[in-house]
Amino acid sequence: MKKMIRVSAPGKLILLGEHAVVYGKPAIIASVAKRCFVTLTPRNDKTIKIVSENQDKTLDYPEFIISKTLEYFHKKLTLGFDLSINSQIPIKGGMGSSSALAVSIAGAVSLFLGQKFDKEKINAIAYLAEQKKHGNPSGGDNSTCCFGGLVWFRKETPDLIIISQISFNTPEKILQNFLTVFSGTPRESTGEMVSIVRDLYQKRPKYTESIFAGQELLVRELLPALKKGDQDAVINCIRKGEKNLELLGVVSPFVKLLIRKIEKIGGAAKICGAGGKTKGGGILLAYHKNRKELETLLEFHKFDFSPITLASEGVRQEL
Ligand code: PMV
Repeated sequence: MKKMIRVSAPGKLILLGEHAVVYGKPAIIASVAKRCFVTLTPRNDKTIKIVSENQDKTLDYPEFIISKTLEYFHKKLTLGFDLSINSQIPIKGGMGSSSALAVSIAGAVSLFLGQKFDKEKINAIAYLAEQKKHGNPSGGDNSTCCFGGLVWFRKETPDLIIISQISFNTPEKILQNFLTVFSGTPRESTGEMVSIVRDLYQKRPKYTESIFAGQELLVRELLPALKKGDQDAVINCIRKGEKNLELLGVVSPFVKLLIRKIEKIGGAAKICGAGGKTKGGGILLAYHKNRKELETLLEFHKFDFSPITLASEGVRQEL
């Protein structure tokens, strides 16, 4: 009988460029040190049994990822397997939980089918799955969960996607001042948030284009700011980037209020994913030159927060 296979993939945070990335603008996306683990144990019969330690609701998505992997390699299963999922990535928070799941299942099933552990192929399968789940995703999330590190992502045309790993030597004084803040689970799905922006684009194309153009300039400014350790420039990029996201209508009044409070004490924060229209906006990326001050504010308002480790390794086979 074949051996057990264990694969893991990291979650991600969009540092800047979400939504605009769907329209061909660049985004900087970082993998994070929270991972999704899948363990595939071969069976002697044809059954596929999926168990998730994180969600007991629907397992349709893992099933779909498995079927996409089989389809991609033009294979049929002769024997089944048990698949167990254990993820450290919060669900529906904008940290790439579904992308990491797609990447790790595609990786594990590829190995089960006797294929090489080829990240390009794993990413292609994960993208096919994510397209079904989210409608029109950019592919930035799954690419970052697959390749890891700090990624410059840009979709030039549907067939030409630039995924470039940026050497990550941001000074420690910058890295230690980032926090993630949980602003509540969004009531809307990523697909719904993407269609809110699509509707705005259709109604007011020039206005929306100008927001996207502004976002591209900020993404280009953020990269050298991170590398040089220019804290004022990092704060400026996050604040202006957040304003643009608000203009796109993807930040709820509740989340705006929290972000204004963070800005008032000298910090900056932004949604880092699809966002939410009515209440929660998922995970926020927050920055302050003196992290303690930010923590005191968040504790006072009873928000969950945690420090983050950015740019961890992409999909890998665990021993
Ligand atoms: O919230 P998430 O992790 O699903 O991120 C969505 C990012 C968008 O730019 C809004 C959509 C996309 O496909 O890139």
